Amino acid sequence: MEQLEVYNPATNEVVERLDYTTHEEIDAQINRAHQAFQEWKVVDAHERASKLNQWATLIDEHQDELARLITLEGGKPLAEAQGEVAYANSYVKWYAEEAKRVYGRTIPAHTPSKKMVIDKFPVGVVGAITPWNFPAAMITRKMAPALAAGCTIICKPAVKTPLTTIKLVELAHEAGIPKDAISYIIASGKDAGDIFTGHGQINKITFTGSTAVGKTLIEQSAQTVKNVTMELGGLAPFIVHNDADIEAAVDGTIASKFRNAGQTCICANRIFVHKDIAEQYTARLTEKVHALTVGDGLEEEVKIGPLIDHNAVEKVLTHITDAQDKGGKLSRSLEEIQALGGNFIKPVVISNVDLNMKVMHEETFGPVAPIMTYDDLDEVIDIANDTEFGLASYFFTNNYRTGLKLFNELEYGVIGWNDGGPSAAHAPFGGLKESGYGREGGTEGIEPYLETKYLSIET
Ligand code: SIN
Repeated sequence: MEQLEVYNPATNEVVERLDYTTHEEIDAQINRAHQAFQEWKVVDAHERASKLNQWATLIDEHQDELARLITLEGGKPLAEAQGEVAYANSYVKWYAEEAKRVYGRTIPAHTPSKKMVIDKFPVGVVGAITPWNFPAAMITRKMAPALAAGCTIICKPAVKTPLTTIKLVELAHEAGIPKDAISYIIASGKDAGDIFTGHGQINKITFTGSTAVGKTLIEQSAQTVKNVTMELGGLAPFIVHNDADIEAAVDGTIASKFRNAGQTCICANRIFVHKDIAEQYTARLTEKVHALTVGDGLEEEVKIGPLIDHNAVEKVLTHITDAQDKGGKLSRSLEEIQALGGNFIKPVVISNVDLNMKVMHEETFGPVAPIMTYDDLDEVIDIANDTEFGLASYFFTNNYRTGLKLFNELEYGVIGWNDGGPSAAHAPFGGLKESGYGREGGTEGIEPYLETKYLSIET
């Protein structure tokens, strides 16, 4: 049987070999998840909450082990990986509580003889397809609300980072969540997408990944009109206005741009700095960026781990050289950027950036901070919105009128004002335009796993 090799991106060594799940087994697993749904959906909400809380306790107890897996298969520095486990678990804890708050409502009727009632029901069996950049958090923020709502769920983790999922599912079973209510498959994205979208017993598809793949899944799901939630690509603008606290803006840029070596969908991709403060901001950012230690995430002092693979390195280098060829000024030489070899890229600030460069149009997904200066706020808002993406955006200003104007006019689902890290389990996360639909997190994040039924009673 063909096996999946899971690599450590820091060393390019194989850390694990796993059997792919056969198509027959996936089919059988979906049938079992369908059976399990009949039982899980009638478990009362308090009991489901209690099982999720037990899962959360086990995740806390295994934080170090899970973090090490994330670093081994994803390259993320260990301290950051520990942060991811806590972040992942905050979704489990939040949805354990939300399970108990799935409320229906009654509507005042238009005639005294009627009673009109609305109630919520779980959607059914969920097929989840998750990315490699957050091997724990992207799993729990789908699994926890699905289970809380009374759905059952099968997850297809990224082939680059399946080990964290396997451990999380193992812990869920240990916590008493039925085996077929939460499970995983090892499969390629294409196989999972084809099988999940084509299967009559999968009621919902939830996906985090690229807009291109998301569009294919939406198209395929249309065949059986499946309920879908899509968390797709981003191209986040990061605006630093002339009245911003420069030190706070630099720290916010580092938090947003260099988290997971720049491999997040919400990280600052395009940095716009007002011309009055551009020199000061760029100098300070460069100083702090060059101080970030790059290396194997298992080493304690490392802040920037490897990129996920060779293709990611190639893409990032293409963006850097494209910017340089078009007049961009690199804060360190190309040789220095690549000095560590392998999948390592030293972080770089690029100034003198303009809109003709790839970094301003494509998701870079790497530790590259391109800075374009601006003069006029309305103009920069237009540029920031001039994209098909609408996931996250950021701005730094200490003027409340400027801040409210930016909040009102930026066409993005997640907005950080003087904040480079807006994500939280208790807040809705998701994009506008081609960055997807549906929200994860917050009270909104359980809604995609629920159906609404309306009952009209003639008394
Ligand atoms: C992502 O950008 O892929 C997720 C980031 C987050 O949840 O903060």
